Amino acid sequence: MYKEKILNLLRSSHSGFISGEELARMCGISRTMVWKHIKSLEREGFAINAVPSQGYQITTLPDILRQVDVKRGLKTRIMGKAIYLLSEVASTNTLAMEMAANGTPEGTVVIAETQTTGKGRLGRKWISPKGNLYLSVVLRPNIPMHKAPLITLMGAVAVASAIRKTGNLEAGIKWPNDILVSGKKVSGLLTEMSAEQDRIRHIVLGIEMGDLPPEVRCLTTSLAAEAGATINRTALLQQLLRDLEIWYKKFLTHDEDVLEEWKKLNLTVGNRVTVSGAGESLKGLAKGVDNEGRLIVRGDDGTDHTVAAGDVTILKK
Ligand code: BTN
Repeated sequence: MYKEKILNLLRSSHSGFISGEELARMCGISRTMVWKHIKSLEREGFAINAVPSQGYQITTLPDILRQVDVKRGLKTRIMGKAIYLLSEVASTNTLAMEMAANGTPEGTVVIAETQTTGKGRLGRKWISPKGNLYLSVVLRPNIPMHKAPLITLMGAVAVASAIRKTGNLEAGIKWPNDILVSGKKVSGLLTEMSAEQDRIRHIVLGIEMGDLPPEVRCLTTSLAAEAGATINRTALLQQLLRDLEIWYKKFLTHDEDVLEEWKKLNLTVGNRVTVSGAGESLKGLAKGVDNEGRLIVRGDDGTDHTVAAGDVTILKK
């Protein structure tokens, strides 16, 4: 508690020094305790300058994800009800699925600085270097099974919205759930579900935001580079949790609103595309999405195909 107060005082006087005596007085603790908290903040990664007769000053405000900072001012009711922040994990999705099976509440968020065996769509490995956001959110929607794919579209809408607001960027969605800025991928989503017969037990929405793995880097961009500045991960994460809450609530009451918004943000429909997956490839015009979020492609042979999963490449006009 005192550590947070000291951090806030140092943050708010970023350019100037605050003496140990002043900090001790404002917190109602001894100067020795102030010094101990300063050391603890340094261990967390904050760079603090200590100058005799002047006091303490934060020299850099590093982009450190801290649970208290994420929760501060969040004001969501569902998303982020419980937040687990880990330095390393095999996969946030795998852990969140296990926690969901063990009864963790809806809105639980698992975040990691890095993943050792991150998972991508279509069974791919997801390389997860430090510096990006890797998170998974537990959802327990009371919906019929055929509506489940719309959850991924809902997630994509929320991610695009958060990137637009935080980075002031023109983020759009390539079907089904790649978020693009200036034609390059900045975020991907992976949804996993546990179900029995026609009942959904839980869904985990896994999201990566930021830079992307080296093997796709030539096709991708970095959010910070696009925004022309470093995007603060705490602000981005908070905005994402707020937008997820808004769009999840809409999804539960009026799922057609989610589809409408997805269509507005979509970059696929109306373009010629190639869809690949499961060894097959389809070329044609992306005509639209159906009510369950599947892509309708008019193939070059003139027949319509309904695609539930695959990789889309948008062909140049
Ligand atoms: C894609 O293939 O585009 C989706 C990538 C999704 C990666 C995220 S990172 C957080 C979560 N945990 C995982 O193991 N995967 C997802």
